[in-house]
Amino acid sequence: MTDLELLTHASAARTLAYAPYSGYSVGAALLCTNGEVYTGCNIENASYTPTVCAERTAVFKAVSQGNQCFTAIAIVGGPAGTPDGYAPPCGVCRQVLNEFCDPSLRVILIDKGEPRATTLGQLLPEGFGPRSLKGD
Ligand code: THU
Repeated sequence: MTDLELLTHASAARTLAYAPYSGYSVGAALLCTNGEVYTGCNIENASYTPTVCAERTAVFKAVSQGNQCFTAIAIVGGPAGTPDGYAPPCGVCRQVLNEFCDPSLRVILIDKGEPRATTLGQLLPEGFGPRSLKGD
């Protein structure tokens, strides 16, 4: 799966965003080590707090289907109705990714209209994760 193909999955997921309050739609596509792809969109709520981000939707779908090993996530976003743009994951989503993924997880974003890959380790340096609880 190429970065562009994964971004295409994220873009398709973004069209399903439920974001009537912020008007900002996000799509994510999570690539598993076994080649499966799980997509997610942001899903907002009239009570605001229950809103879930696209990235966490994708992670929770994957984990609840028995997949916990990932190699990459593509994320696109922007005001609804605009082209896919730069949508770096929020801090909570970085932390959720850190629960299941190595710092080497590739995070594929659109930056100034072009695909750009970074890593979870670059986005969340010295993160607190499962190994931290064991004293590592
Ligand atoms: N959002 C995401 O889906 N992912 C992020 O990493 C940042 C924010 C969503 C949540 C909310 O529905 C909207 O974008 C505006 O914050």
